[in-house]
Amino acid sequence: MDQFIDVRSDTVTQPTDQMRTAMAQAVVGDDGFGADPTVQALEARYAELVGKEAAIFVPSGVMANQIAMRIHTSPGDTVVAGHASHVVAFEMGASAKNAGIQFATFRDDDGFLPRDEVLDRIDAELDHQSGVRAIVVENTNMFAGGRIYPLEELRALRSATSVPLHMDGARLFNAQVASGVSAATFAAEVDTVMTCLSKGLCAPVGSLLAGSVEAMERGRIERKRLGGSMRQAGFLAAAGLVALDTMIERLADDHTRARRIADAVEHRFGETGYRATECETNIVAFNHPSARHFVEQLESRGILAGTVAPGRFRLVAHAGIADGDVEKIVVAIKELV
Ligand SMILES: Cc1ncc(COP(=O)(O)O)c(C=O)c1O
Repeated sequence: MDQFIDVRSDTVTQPTDQMRTAMAQAVVGDDGFGADPTVQALEARYAELVGKEAAIFVPSGVMANQIAMRIHTSPGDTVVAGHASHVVAFEMGASAKNAGIQFATFRDDDGFLPRDEVLDRIDAELDHQSGVRAIVVENTNMFAGGRIYPLEELRALRSATSVPLHMDGARLFNAQVASGVSAATFAAEVDTVMTCLSKGLCAPVGSLLAGSVEAMERGRIERKRLGGSMRQAGFLAAAGLVALDTMIERLADDHTRARRIADAVEHRFGETGYRATECETNIVAFNHPSARHFVEQLESRGILAGTVAPGRFRLVAHAGIADGDVEKIVVAIKELV
């Protein structure tokens, strides 16, 4: 696979040499007993970065979202989320199975939920509809092409309702680097926030969920129930600490490269309405009926891309993609037929 330029996702990133060294040297203990100092250091570091009281280290982003669903809701409750958000569309129905909730979904093509419609749905509890017990905001919004949740929108939503907010911040640090708004400033508007270490930040495994001490105590129990309580997890947390310490600022390079690809897409497929300005971080996503055919064409030229829905094509820039790779992608996009 090495000969391919792989822009299917930023999850394909490899751990850095510094991460590998840190993993080899990690001081570890049994985290099931709360005795792994490296896990504790990682949880404290993330909690500090997002301005929350406490955090828990979990194996995956899906599990972080699932724990949040179980913290905020009871079976039968309604959760508001974007129509193609990860928690709705890409977790294999996990929230229905694990939390027994149902979603009320809203289009968030520009990267944020339509506030008035969301508030109406919450209000509908007075009209015999099931109660909304959580709202999921995705920042950055993957399906929308890595769009950043506008801080003012988030603040307006937060101040308009007392329904708890969970932020799927799988790529929250991309939002921070691109917008100049700190992760903590975004997270101040939500009750729980999660971030993946294993995407643009290049750690091999793991995500973090943060919130109040009380919420994270419940989160630890839900993590155990879901089978996500790990033992000598400090080996993984060691890489996560390097990710948080060394890999955030460089995300700007991915954004520059994605934008170069986005420019090529606008130039070649302007008639679809795609505009390069939609590419605010590291993801280029656009609609075209031939999306799957494009994936095949690129593969035959040594480039791995993907689709996230029928007719929705996606390329993701990350640390494994250099300027030379971007130029090859740009040429290949110009020649797509
Ligand atoms: C927005 C978003 N949330 C959550 C996840 C889940 O992360 P993981 O694959 O680590 O479970 C992803 C993964 O692609 C994602 O893009």
